[in-house]
This record gives sequence, C-alpha cells and structure tokens, in this order.
Amino acid sequence: MKALIPAAGLGSRFLPATKAQPKEMLLVVDRPVIQYVVEEGLASAADEVIIINSHDKKSIEEHFTPNPALEAELRSRGKDKYADKVAHAGNLNVSYVYQDEPLGLGHAVHCAADRIEGEPFFVLLGDVLVPDNQMLIKMKEVSDAHNGASVIAVLPVAKEEVDRFGVIAGEALSDDVWKVSSLVEKPAVEEAPSNLAVFGRYLLSPRVMELLAEVKPGAGGEIQLTDALDAVLKEEEMYALVIDPEDGYDTGTIESWLDTNNRLYKKLHG
Ligand code: G1P
Repeated sequence: MKALIPAAGLGSRFLPATKAQPKEMLLVVDRPVIQYVVEEGLASAADEVIIINSHDKKSIEEHFTPNPALEAELRSRGKDKYADKVAHAGNLNVSYVYQDEPLGLGHAVHCAADRIEGEPFFVLLGDVLVPDNQMLIKMKEVSDAHNGASVIAVLPVAKEEVDRFGVIAGEALSDDVWKVSSLVEKPAVEEAPSNLAVFGRYLLSPRVMELLAEVKPGAGGEIQLTDALDAVLKEEEMYALVIDPEDGYDTGTIESWLDTNNRLYKKLHG
C-alpha cells in the first residue's frame, strides 16, 4: 500500500517561522517533523511513501536526498554518529507529486490520484506524530476485519475544541472501534455530532480518490478530504479507531508543537 503525506500547505499558523522554511521542516527534538511521518509510513503497513509537495519547498526534497560530501566530511572528523543520521535521512525511500495551488487537503490528496491505481491507500498528515509507529498497523487490522473498509483514526477532544477538526458521528462497536455514519469538517461547537476528532491517519478505499474529483469547496472555501469521506459513506462502510492521547502527538499549533517537543524529548531521552 502507498502512503500519501500532504506537505504543500502554507504553514500560516507558524508564520513568520515558516516564511522561508516549510512547516514540515520545523524541528521536533532532533529531526524535521516530516521525517517522523516518513519513518512511520515506511515502518508500518506502507511499502511506498509519496510526499505531495509544492515546487516552493525544495528543502523537503533536499532533506531526503543523499549528501555524500557532508557524510564524508563528518566521517573524516570522527563524527560517525552524525554521518549515520545524514545517511539515514538521505536513504529514506520517498517520491513526490506536486500541488502548486493550496486549494485544500482534499485537493492535495487528489494530486496523487495517478499513483493510486485502484488500491486502498494511507494518508498521513504531518501535523501529527505517532512515535511508536503502531497506529497504521492497527488501522489495517480493523480494515481487514471489515472486508477492507476505510478506517480513520479519531481522538476524543474537549468539546470546545471540535471546531478545529473533522468530527465523526456513528456508533461504538467496542471500546476502540466505531462504525462511522457521517463526518463533518470543523463543525460549530454546538453542532458537532460527537467529540471524536479525525486525527490525521487515514486508510482509504480507492473510491474516496474517485469521489475527490467531484468534491466542491467546503469549510474555509477549501476542497476537504472530510467531505469525500462523508460522500463515500453512501456507498461503503467506514470504521474509526479511537486512539489514546499517548498514541499520537499534535504539532499543528505553536502550543501543541512546544508541548510535543517536551513530551517527545522526555520519551526519547528520559
Ligand atoms: C485537517 C483535516 C481535519 C483533521 C485535522 C487533523 O485539518 O481537514 O479533518 O481533523 O487535519 O489534524 P487542518 O488541521 O488541516 O485544518
């Protein structure tokens, strides 16, 4: 299965830090945030990772390109530990498609339509990190248990925060699996059907990719992935895996990015 990582957004919430540097290249503990996401894709159920980039963000591609001169220089100075890190980043197997107009997450995902070839696929949003790389594996298990249905990760959030997220309606089948009946992107707090927020990990049927071609601009005037998911529910079943706050770390706001740096530093370096 392929994993798509949309990375062409403007990074508005992090300006001016993201004026000349992509949001995806911001540091979390010891590496750019997108490196965690690529590593997660390659470590779990995906065999190929495709970054949906914009032509303005070449530093993302430079990061994943080998740099033998830097590596050799570091080794000649006895800094093999760092040379190994440089080699690792340059050897991660990623490819690229391009989204040059920021028309929304749904539009970004659809830019990779030609690469999907009628198979289920993952979407991994760079705003969230999954340090133990287990979430996609669990989602695949839920999908396999339900005839290959789409599965999305959801996180219970405080009621007053639901308007930042996609939110599901549905029924609980067990402690951590729901059957989804509808989705809404960034609902008003009083209209949200639940407090289960779409968390940024999706295992999607190829029909979602087809429907994305027809989705009209929705919340914020953008073409929303959530709207294609709601549309596919008329034809197919969908399930949600309810995750624990310790399973995934948000980096989508300055506050959550700072908090994630602190939590992850403690987890990785005690
Ligand atoms: C996107 C999705 C939203 C999801 C969120 C998770 O929103 O559209 O459904 O809940 O990511 O981080 P964004 O944060 O891009 O506005």
